[in-house]
Amino acid sequence: MLFDTFNRQHNYLRISLTDKCNLRCFYCMPEEDYAFMPSSQVMQAEEIETLAKLFVGLGVDKIRLTGGEPLVRKDVARIIQALSQLPVTLTLTTNGIRLDQFLPLLKEAGVRSLNISLDTLQPEKFSLITRRNEFETVWKNIHAALAAGMHVKVNVVAMKNINEDEITAFVRWTKDTPVHVRFIELMPFDGNHWDSKNVVTYKQILQTIEQQYDVVKLKDELHDTTKKYIVPGHQGTFAVISTMTDAFCSTCNRMRLTADGKMKNCLFSKEETDLLSALRNGEDVAELIRQTILRKHASHGGQFAATMEAIHSETLQNRSMITIGG
Ligand code: 5AD
Ligand code: SF4
Repeated sequence: MLFDTFNRQHNYLRISLTDKCNLRCFYCMPEEDYAFMPSSQVMQAEEIETLAKLFVGLGVDKIRLTGGEPLVRKDVARIIQALSQLPVTLTLTTNGIRLDQFLPLLKEAGVRSLNISLDTLQPEKFSLITRRNEFETVWKNIHAALAAGMHVKVNVVAMKNINEDEITAFVRWTKDTPVHVRFIELMPFDGNHWDSKNVVTYKQILQTIEQQYDVVKLKDELHDTTKKYIVPGHQGTFAVISTMTDAFCSTCNRMRLTADGKMKNCLFSKEETDLLSALRNGEDVAELIRQTILRKHASHGGQFAATMEAIHSETLQNRSMITIGG
């Protein structure tokens, strides 16, 4: 079992399969020339499988695959098949573009729930945010996933002057469609020029929705990162991920492995542990994992100021989102 010094047990591993993506969301990809990871530094499929098994041996029972976009990796099918053999709940976060081709495989592998990113319901705005003209593909594939019986969560990064005017439209979508919309407060990462002024807060999101709907709070589970709600009578639900204004660090159970095999004990940690090199050198990787968890800070990698307004994103030491994988 992996306990940190705050007695939090870590049973949830998020593995980034690649830093490549078929979209270019402006808040995720650094604007400056981004150099993709050289393939020699990226974990091979067998290395991912070996590391995942080590984590399972240490008590991990949930694995989420992320990217970049995990489904652009050429051998992703093999990786999904291999990880599905482990005693874990396997899930995936995807932008949905290639999802239709993978639905049969995902079902076969026992994947029941998917997180799909979609920040707008307007095709033209989608192209502005992602720099690619793919709204229809994602829309079609969300419905294909629902038709295939998947539990679908839709991640919406809420941003001032970009999509805050669509918050109620997303909630309206949950009326006849069993999707679970999750509004995420915009977070600072390397190269995304984050400013607290662009964050639409949990409070603001809820107030906006309550102007049009009566909402009922749903119960949140211990390790949930979301505050869940339903509009009575709607088939779907909505939730807010309030990382910036009301964090959930005290019950955090997650760890991350980047595509180049570095372990992060927090999304915002500046320190990383190079598990891939250790594995290639035949070192004791399980011990490195334990040590990395023992160095975990109480919240936000120890890097956030007390209030969101006091955070200077330039002083944070981290990676860009595309290289962490969310
Ligand atoms: N702030 C909040 N959410 C983000 N994501 C990517 N970058 C950010 C950011 N800066 C979201 C993606 C995806 C999930 C993994 O994280 O949209 O849904
Ligand atoms: Fe790709 Fe997701 Fe980043 Fe957009 S947010 S560029 S879809 S990895």
